[in-house]
Order: sequence, then C-alpha cells, then structure tokens
Amino acid sequence: MSNIIIYGSHYGTTKQYAEELSRRTNIKAISFEKVNQINDYDNIIYLGGLYAGGVLGMSKTLKKLNNISNKKIMIATVGLADPIDEENKNNIRNNIKHQLPKEVFEKAMIFHLRGGIDYSKLNLVHKTMLKLLYNAIKKIPKEQQTAENNAMIETYNKKVNFINFSSLDKIVNEIENKN
Ligand SMILES: Cc1cc2nc3c(=O)[nH]c(=O)nc-3n(C[C@H](O)[C@H](O)[C@H](O)COP(=O)(O)O)c2cc1C
Repeated sequence: MSNIIIYGSHYGTTKQYAEELSRRTNIKAISFEKVNQINDYDNIIYLGGLYAGGVLGMSKTLKKLNNISNKKIMIATVGLADPIDEENKNNIRNNIKHQLPKEVFEKAMIFHLRGGIDYSKLNLVHKTMLKLLYNAIKKIPKEQQTAENNAMIETYNKKVNFINFSSLDKIVNEIENKN
C-alpha cells in the first residue's frame, strides 16, 4: 500500500497540520505543487486551505486521478470558520462538490480543521479580497450572519491561531482503520 499526504497552503497553517499528520502516520507529506504521479498511490490524503470557498490546489491535483475504484481518498479543509457549525460544514461540502469530478467527490471522506490568520503577513491581493468581503458582510444584519461571516468579522485585521492538532485524531484513526 502506498500512501501520500498532499497539502495546499499559502501561509503555513495547512502545512503544519500536514506535517503533524505525517509525523503521526509516517506518511510522506508534500505540497500539491510538487506531486507528479498521483495515480501511483493507493491512499491519498489531501489537506487544503480554504480560499473564498475553494480548497487550495485540490481540484488541480485530484482531477488527475484515473481509476479510483481501489483507492481511499480523504480530504481535509483548513479554514477560519468553526467547522462545528453545521451550516458552515454544509457550505464547504457543497463547494467541494463543484470542485471535483463526481466520482471523486462521492468516494472522498471529508474532514474539517480550523486554521488561523495573520493579517500582517497577507499579500496585497488577499488583503484586498478580505477587505472587500469584510465591508460587504458588515452590512448584513447580525441575526442573518453565518458562522463563516462571524469568523471573518471577529478576526478581521488580527492575528489568530485556532490550530488544534487533536482534531487530526479522526483522520489518523481513519488512516489506521480504527473506525
Ligand atoms: C483571501 C482569503 C480567503 C479566505 N477564504 C476563506 C473561506 O472561504 N472560508 C474560511 O473558512 N476561511 C477562509 N480564509 C481563511 C483561511 O482559510 C485560513 O487562514 C487558513 O488557515 C489558511 O490556510 P494556510 O495558512 O495553509 O494558507 C481565507 C483567507 C484568505 C486570506
């Protein structure tokens, strides 16, 4: 059985999860930009940061899969909004559905992890995107705000870190088939 952990990370929070998962499972972790022969692997664990609903690098990477009938595919998203919130989880899953071939989406097990953000480290494009988003969602009445919007408002212009390695337990158990 050959396994691989692939990650898409701009600012390192997803990379930290991928490296911790690698340490705990002894599976090599590499950035999606460096993956060549994805079809050589039986088990693929993809971790990607959430960017405007997209999972960084996921679509580009997983659409290269050919025959997935004997493969195990796991996807973990890393975002700012709290994945305990059901609406947030549903939104993320719905977005993922549109970013993957149907058979890959149906086969994939999906997990959600919480990352972090440091506005002082963001590039200009990302800073501008979040400023526009913040200005738009601030106008929405409080009772209509989603968990995702609230996370955005609460963390705007700040440095926050919600990384919690124990949230990897479920993924580790699944990899080791303890579930
Ligand atoms: C431009 C931009 C868009 C983002 N969009 C989302 C989003 O749609 N949902 C979410 O939960 N978090 C969103 N985030 C927060 C990131 O997902 C979070 O910072 C994550 O930890 C980043 O992963 P990385 O450090 O591995 O790049 C966004 C952040 C930026 C900078």
